[in-house]
Amino acid sequence: MVSVIIGTQWGDEGKGKIVDLFSKDADFVVRFHGGSNAGHTVIVNGKKYPFHLIPSGILQPNAKGVIANGVIVDLEVLISEIKMLEEDGMELKGKLFVSDRCHLIIPYHKALDLAYENARGKDKLGTTGRGIGPALADKVSYNGIRIYELLDWENFVDKFTFQTNIKNKILKTFNIEPINVKRELDRFLKLRKIILPCVTDTYQLLQNALKDKKNILMEGAHGVMLDIDFSPYPFSTGSNVIIGAVNTGAGIPLKNLDQVWGVTKAYTSRVGGGPLPTEVHGALADIIREKGGEYGTTTGRARRIGWLDLEAVKFACQLCGVTDLIITKIDVLSGLEKIKVCIEYKLNSKSISYSSCGYNELSKLTPIYKELPGWKDDISKVRKFSDLPKNCQNYLKFIEKFLGTPVKLISTGPARDEYIKS
Ligand code: GDP
Ligand code: IMO
Ligand code: MG
Repeated sequence: MVSVIIGTQWGDEGKGKIVDLFSKDADFVVRFHGGSNAGHTVIVNGKKYPFHLIPSGILQPNAKGVIANGVIVDLEVLISEIKMLEEDGMELKGKLFVSDRCHLIIPYHKALDLAYENARGKDKLGTTGRGIGPALADKVSYNGIRIYELLDWENFVDKFTFQTNIKNKILKTFNIEPINVKRELDRFLKLRKIILPCVTDTYQLLQNALKDKKNILMEGAHGVMLDIDFSPYPFSTGSNVIIGAVNTGAGIPLKNLDQVWGVTKAYTSRVGGGPLPTEVHGALADIIREKGGEYGTTTGRARRIGWLDLEAVKFACQLCGVTDLIITKIDVLSGLEKIKVCIEYKLNSKSISYSSCGYNELSKLTPIYKELPGWKDDISKVRKFSDLPKNCQNYLKFIEKFLGTPVKLISTGPARDEYIKS
């Protein structure tokens, strides 16, 4: 059984919590794209684990974590997560597997990410500053350095020195301090020792798992609205977020996918720049942001807030073949008198689909809303659909009907046990 969890919005839908929950029955939980720009929160026994690279299911005793080839790896971030788990007594050897095909984030990628952002000035994109774009650019222009290179230290030193010397020339044009080759090599030598015991051929590992009919859970990062091809570029992240990334990023054939779970937050958030058609401002945004703790897991930035945008989510479900929906953070909407849901986009009085919009259209269009009555009661302790306030049930039924996809799970709080199966 192979299932995939993807975010159907602009990221931060609550994927980490769901991946942790579903990993109870998983043999392998796999990150297959993106990098440490992801921030997935898991809360177990009151303790908060913010994962950026290690799969969010790692805390489940039977689940093995895999960082497959499609992930770009910042060793420093990865090792700090390994240390966080080791402090809890977890032994990572034999529990965490990292592909030697993963490309590395090198300090010059982070420097370049920030340099480009600063150069853009008021038009900056609002990246996470984790070096994602420049590292992926190096990957496709044959200038990347992989974990594979780390296996042969002399080879790594050659490639690292060559690339750093070139990047230092580019950094100079931005008036940025050059990277000190020797100091960085010393650092990588130490990081290498820690990570090598986890490095393996994750392709073969997962092919064997498929052959042995193991349960594999693919942990999507970001959200479909940030996909490099299907978002209003350049307000994107650097990787493909859509379902094809399971194949390119982990080698799992798409014909093996049994279930595609679309995680959808009951409202919308976005961190960074770019159009957000249903954005709300002022007191209402503040209430939802504070109640939902909408501050970036990776950067701590305040997230922008909007009403649920079903035109966008419909596109995500269609594009990725979502078979089942998970609605998260429905508890955050309790107490609102009225709740709006975007059901259509109009531009110059004409209906327009999300897929035919670039950033210009998305910035100018008028969202058409359906207004639904809210509910007062706190629902965080509710564990049965029929115990939810009627208006909350109706809100969920409306989403299900509009999208034509069943809502199988409703998350009512950040902790592992706060959910309703419907
Ligand atoms: P991810 O990137 O999709 O994994 O989401 P993040 O972890 O970045 O952000 C989701 C935030 O909402 C985290 O702080 C979670 O602990 C929290 N969260 C997840 N599910 C729920 C929920 O159903 N209700 C509430 N109130 N918080 C939730
Ligand atoms: P998770 O997995 C929210 C956004 C950034 C920025 C744009 C490009 O936690 O849902 P990048 O650093 O990727 O070059 O930044 O993409 N972004 C995310 N926003 N959640 C994420 O991941 C994101 N990953 C990237 O904020 O707007
Ligand atoms: Mg996140």
